[in-house]
Amino acid sequence: MLFGEVTIYEPEEYATAVAQRLISFASQHGTVNIALSGGSTPQAIFKVLAAGNSNLDNVRFFWADERYVPYDSPDSNFGEAWRLWLSSIRPDREDLFPFAVERDSPQVVAQNYARIVPQNGLDLVLLGVGEDGHTASIFPGDEETRRTDLFAAATVAPFKPYQRLTLTPRYLNLAKHVWFLATGERKRLILKQTASGDQTLPVAWITKPNIHWYLDEPASQV
Ligand code: 6PG
Repeated sequence: MLFGEVTIYEPEEYATAVAQRLISFASQHGTVNIALSGGSTPQAIFKVLAAGNSNLDNVRFFWADERYVPYDSPDSNFGEAWRLWLSSIRPDREDLFPFAVERDSPQVVAQNYARIVPQNGLDLVLLGVGEDGHTASIFPGDEETRRTDLFAAATVAPFKPYQRLTLTPRYLNLAKHVWFLATGERKRLILKQTASGDQTLPVAWITKPNIHWYLDEPASQV
């Protein structure tokens, strides 16, 4: 069984439904600190949000992870969120806190990021799940990142783009809420493995927040 609450949508309603959840999460609070992730699943949600009329004025945006590439690269997590959505609601870039990849070495970028994230944890983190069980940019076998007391780290992915920045399990576990987003048949196997309690998977290292899995029908047939 997956740890946390599980909600399953039809593929064609998924992005709209999660976008709606996000808007309603943000509307229930004052200032809300939310971290976004990269990957294709959030992109569909960003497109829906861009087409809507919610500015999420009270939201400060952080990133759960980033690829160490320029913002104008198609691989940039901040860049994709900016191009698809955020440029329309935050044209002046106010309240956007991406990893400052354009300035320093990955290690220094991570150190600086650990200082700017809310020190008592985020209100909500959106995370994806890779087919190898990675989440954010925390990859299987990376015991150092698993155990560090630092809030952010530079990591190396087993596939391109190799150099990554990520919030650590230590920090992600301070969040109030984590939503895991996974869609499509290709996620079935890893979700099954996660549900079986495999503790070697980075996705299983996030246990403290209120966890909610948003899946679509094909992914959920575990
Ligand atoms: C990234 C991520 C990563 C992602 C998963 C799932 O920058 O690649 O944040 O952890 O969430 O790989 O990605 P998909 O949504 O594309 O399946």
